[in-house]
Amino acid sequence: MSNTVTLTDNRTGASYEFPILDGTKGPSVIDISTLFTQTGMFTFDRGYTSTAMCRSSITFIDGQKGELLHRGYDIAYLAENHTFLEVSYLLLNKKLPNAHELEAFRLEMKKRSFIHEGMMKIFDAFPDKSHPMAILQAAVASLSSFYPDHLNANKPEEFHEMAMRIIAKMPTIAAFSYRFKKGIPIIYPNLDRGFTENFLYMLRSYPYEHVDLKPIEVKALDTVFMLHIDHEQNASTTTVRTVGSTHAHPYACIAAGIGALWGHAHGGANEGVIRQLEAIGTLDNVDKFIARAKDKNDPFRLMGFGHRVYKNFDPRAKVLKKMCAQLIDEIGIDSELLKVARRIEEIALSDEYFISRNLYPNVDFYSGLILKALGIPNDMFAVIFVIGRVSGWISQLIELKEQDSIKIVRPRQLYVGESNRV
Ligand code: SDX
Repeated sequence: MSNTVTLTDNRTGASYEFPILDGTKGPSVIDISTLFTQTGMFTFDRGYTSTAMCRSSITFIDGQKGELLHRGYDIAYLAENHTFLEVSYLLLNKKLPNAHELEAFRLEMKKRSFIHEGMMKIFDAFPDKSHPMAILQAAVASLSSFYPDHLNANKPEEFHEMAMRIIAKMPTIAAFSYRFKKGIPIIYPNLDRGFTENFLYMLRSYPYEHVDLKPIEVKALDTVFMLHIDHEQNASTTTVRTVGSTHAHPYACIAAGIGALWGHAHGGANEGVIRQLEAIGTLDNVDKFIARAKDKNDPFRLMGFGHRVYKNFDPRAKVLKKMCAQLIDEIGIDSELLKVARRIEEIALSDEYFISRNLYPNVDFYSGLILKALGIPNDMFAVIFVIGRVSGWISQLIELKEQDSIKIVRPRQLYVGESNRV
């Protein structure tokens, strides 16, 4: 029995054969790269729901089982036993770091955490009401101007330098965006603090006072970064790979990924969760909003619920739900907001509409609550998502370049416009 599928065109009776490619886990794929030359037709797959765009060994998701692996390690194991920086190293280098490798990585992140002083003008140029994602996207794109040497993405050593620069500077750019928006003095990275602790420190500290960061707060934020690190070929990762396929440098690729992640159906969802909980306000309003979410004529969606791939509990949501409870026990959160969130979760997990559509809480439902408890403003939530995801985006770009020939991403279309007009 050959490892192929046969496609028959019932209009002509013609048959075409295509190879089946098997991975190490998950669904096999039908290699249809010769479809057009054989049949003169394209496939049509809105939203690419049934299309694999690449081979990858970084992340594996089983949506039915609610399984998520990074380089073969289960996400619950990684969250329990490792830090965000260790998992970043795992994605970037295909293995967890030993003590020496981790120390060297930590040092490189510290050394590169400062930004070119000329970039301060970027923050200054934005009006106070600017969304931090707009500032972040502009600042990342500007890195190619402030660091103009070694921009050749096809030279491994130059790509590595740009990649490390992006990962290390992202928390600093994010924290500076926040401080400039608030009109408060910026706090430079403190080299005595770790990657995640330093970010909270740059957000919260003041030149004249010592800020105490509770270990549970640092652990909670580190877990949020880790659980956002990578997620197969989601919309923003596909964007990063698409820009990378044109041989653009990683600054352009990551700036494009930030734009894609900003959408409320994607990375903007955790901000949407809190705004929605605040709009619902009290327990009395919950039923009204649930009814709207179920109403086909109402575009209202329950933010933080549903997922293109997970048709079971998002495994990241399970980890964050536990972390959220620990954090709330220790530092407390707006109790009305939490009561509303718990009531929504309770209804959604028992209501036929959500059950029949496999709509479970996703990563954003609980990350929104954790970030709120940490006192991080709503419009910084997608920025936090970027800080976590950028290690995954860079790993995906490295993988793209390792594959023999980079094929530029160029899908086709079903033309439904006018025929030739005179
Ligand atoms: C992320 O791809 C990734 O991996 C993304 C991400 C990552 O790490 O990169 O996991 C991060 O983006 C998580 C998702 C965050 N987005 C939200 O929480 C926004 C709310 N969720 C929905 O917009 C929606 O669930 C999506 C966009 C996440 C998934 O949409 P799909 O798979 O395209 O599902 P669909 O729109 O086809 O909906 C199927 C049905 C529809 O009802 P019917 O037409 O069958 O009657 O479910 C309904 C939808 O109306 N539905 C919802 C709903 N999500 C889907 N109804 C109410 N509330 C919702 N949230």
